[in-house]
Amino acid sequence: MRRLRPAILALSALAAAAPTTAGEPPTPAALKAQYARPETIPFPEDNPRSPARVTLGKQLFFDERLSGGNDTACATCHIPALGWEDGERLTESTGGGNLKRHTPTIWNRAWGRTFFWDGSARSLEEQALQPIRNPGEMNQPMPALMDELRRIPGYRKGFRAAFPDAEAPVITAARLAKAIATYERTVVQPQTAFDAWVDGDGNAISEAARRGFRLFNGKARCAECHSGWNFSSGAFHDIGLPDTGDRGRGAVLDLPAADHMFKVPTLRDIARRAPYMHDGSLPNLQAVLDHYQGGFVRRETLSADMEAIALTDREEADLIAFLHTLTTPPAARGVPRPELPQ
Ligand code: HEC
Ligand code: HEC
Repeated sequence: MRRLRPAILALSALAAAAPTTAGEPPTPAALKAQYARPETIPFPEDNPRSPARVTLGKQLFFDERLSGGNDTACATCHIPALGWEDGERLTESTGGGNLKRHTPTIWNRAWGRTFFWDGSARSLEEQALQPIRNPGEMNQPMPALMDELRRIPGYRKGFRAAFPDAEAPVITAARLAKAIATYERTVVQPQTAFDAWVDGDGNAISEAARRGFRLFNGKARCAECHSGWNFSSGAFHDIGLPDTGDRGRGAVLDLPAADHMFKVPTLRDIARRAPYMHDGSLPNLQAVLDHYQGGFVRRETLSADMEAIALTDREEADLIAFLHTLTTPPAARGVPRPELPQ
């Protein structure tokens, strides 16, 4: 008998219809309930979407001038063509050495409850200013950046359009963060083959992928943590990666019992986002499956949901085939770089 956890309890209405065994194919209705994509993007009341705010936020996201050296934009590390990551194990820091954690995707962050691998930022607005200030990332103090942006006529115009009711000075760090966050909320993964299948196109994914999906929800136990349409419960777990001195959630909560815990990441576009994990330590999906098949460190903080699973070669191939159905179709991958204000 599995222990029920709060995240699962909250979904109990859906869980009743959820496929939980490898044998029974889920009924289309049960699938839809659990995996259908939301129809609208949530925007917070104090930062509503407007076309001008999205346009401004996108310009800021792609603008290298936001960094101290005028050489690094958000999009330098969150590269649209690479699933909004950078393909590096750990990205080089401006201060020399590497950043301490692997760059995560920003797909579907509108639905996130916490941000960063350790959940230390509570909103996208709060998150956005940190890489700009961080000496290892964009290394730009806010007052200097405000002066710089206020001198660019195109940005003066763009901020006024995005924040029509604001009093001078219209260009502030808080509004910069709001604009970037608004743009990020529009970064929603386009329809994948998996979504088409959930929508009723029975042939959108292969037979192997359908078997893999059943394993994902059953024997392989992945959906215990990678749950729902975005494949993340949003919870924190220690999945037993070797200790690199990063306490993760434990440092945020100042709680040793939460050491080694990191946020469950989305699995959308996962096949295009190697290497994997907060430390970028697993080079490919095979290495990830090896990890879950007993390749993890057993310690006090290890999640109660971590049980060594055992998959046959065919099951591994099926599971990987399923993960590939979450890939963004080629035609929907690129985001053209916006024209930047002068
Ligand atoms: C030098 C590379 C780099 C740059 C530049 C950068 N990021 Fe990141 N980003 C990262 C890394 C690494 C993390 C993970 C850090 C952590 O969890 O401690 C991250 C995390 C995030 C997250 C959290 C995602 C999640 O699922 O929790 C968001 C959102 C984000 N960045 C947006 C931005 C924005 C907006 C900018 C520009 C203002 C930016 N990033 C600039 C590397 C970068
Ligand atoms: C106990 C909860 C739990 C279970 C069960 C689980 N995962 Fe994870 N998964 C996580 C967490 C937490 C992370 C991030 C860990 C880290 O970086 O420290 C993660 C990371 C991943 C990543 C890397 C994602 C990225 O963006 O780098 C992949 C791929 C993955 N899991 C696939 C799976 C598959 C496939 C299964 C089933 C075989 C599975 N997971 C089972 C919690 C879980």
